[in-house]
Amino acid sequence: MRTIVRNGRIVTSIDDYSADILIEDGRIRAIGRDLEVGSDARTVDASNLLVLPGGVDVHTHLDWEFGASHTADTFGTGTMAAAFGGTTTIVDFANQSRGAGPLAGFDNWLSRAKSACIDVGAHMIMLDIDDAALADMKILINEGVTSFKMFTAYPGVLMVDDGQLFRAMRVAGANGAMTCVHCENGPVIQVLIEEALAQGRTGPKYHMLTRPTLMEAEATHRAIRIAELAGAPVYCVHMSAAEALQSLAEARDRGIAAHGETCPHYLFLTLEEYDRPDFDAAKFVMTPPLRTHAHQDAMWRGLRTNDIQVISTDHCPFCFHERTLGAKYSKELGRDDFSKIPNGAPGIETRLPLVYDGGVRTGRISLHRMVDLTATAPAKLFGLFPRKGTIAVGSDADLVLFDPNERWAIRAADHHSRVEFSLYEGRPITGRVKKVLLRGNVIVDGAMWLGREGMGEFIKRGASGGLA
Ligand code: URP
Ligand code: ZN
Ligand code: ZN
Repeated sequence: MRTIVRNGRIVTSIDDYSADILIEDGRIRAIGRDLEVGSDARTVDASNLLVLPGGVDVHTHLDWEFGASHTADTFGTGTMAAAFGGTTTIVDFANQSRGAGPLAGFDNWLSRAKSACIDVGAHMIMLDIDDAALADMKILINEGVTSFKMFTAYPGVLMVDDGQLFRAMRVAGANGAMTCVHCENGPVIQVLIEEALAQGRTGPKYHMLTRPTLMEAEATHRAIRIAELAGAPVYCVHMSAAEALQSLAEARDRGIAAHGETCPHYLFLTLEEYDRPDFDAAKFVMTPPLRTHAHQDAMWRGLRTNDIQVISTDHCPFCFHERTLGAKYSKELGRDDFSKIPNGAPGIETRLPLVYDGGVRTGRISLHRMVDLTATAPAKLFGLFPRKGTIAVGSDADLVLFDPNERWAIRAADHHSRVEFSLYEGRPITGRVKKVLLRGNVIVDGAMWLGREGMGEFIKRGASGGLA
């Protein structure tokens, strides 16, 4: 099966040139001007379009049980939405359950991930970090699960203590795996939550007011120092606070293998959203919460200075209304108590257009930097490169054909997630994903879906945590 993508402007994290791309058996076979192919080859016309590497989103929560709640997208719906947003690979979170080993959690994740429409890898969330779990980590690394996630937040649900964090980091570091950390001081935040509720402060805004930036900074500093002692690379997920970024930058200046990620909502939204009336603010209850403009500016600065290397979505989709899919999939779980609002927001379909429109077109970052942040750097950090994250001979033919000039507006009604709202409803955007190829197969063509559930492959990743 041969496909040729003709006349596109190929943009990678370092290249920008016009050429054809010949695809054979799902991989890029040749790149060149006016490539000669037989009449059996299918042609995809990319005239006037940018040809970008398929996006790599290393922070998604599909079909995920989270305390009393459950995320609304299956692997089928979530990855279809990802594809329409120009993402062809995700690394999603598998979960150890309390009282069970990580291997069982991985098997459970694998069976759910079978319906994926794009390629998928798994990070493993570690909860009970005992000797058996540490031994399982090495087995998982051999299976291509080369990153582990620990939480210093959500006490009683996902939080581990510092000793457990250290033990897991030591095993990861010694075996070529990355440690991802959700950095917030859970116990201190818990005190603030209980005090707010005792004072009758139950609305969504108190989610933000009880999760101060200082407690993100404290846990970021702690996680990095513990990783340093453990000899492990560390990746601070969903960074939102200037003080946390300062800790990361300081560690990187000292040559520590510390990395950071932020998400579109911290780049394009601020805490004013929590003043929305009628529980509408619950849509913006994600962790960490939205911050001030000053913190937002700091995140953009971090992207420019490479103290932050990745933009991923933290797609953690919950519906707004209980009636859409049922109570446990809905923000309404916390209508009378902000601490019960499921934490997380949809965003898997809007990353690339938002970053192009609000980052590249505004001159905050270059086109190359956009590709790096959304595809190349995450692929390198998480053991997917050069199979994923670039356009090169031998790489998977995961391509996004992007019109940099098309104007449109974000509407949840046009989205493919099961969530019925968007954080960016009505936002005008210039730049749109037009076609998406997964291993040479056209899966998105304008508004048309040509992919199918089950065509995504599990990707056994290589060593993680190296230099991006
Ligand atoms: O609010 C968020 N981010 N929900 C998902 C779980 C997490 O903390 O990543
Ligand atoms: Zn988190
Ligand atoms: Zn998350």
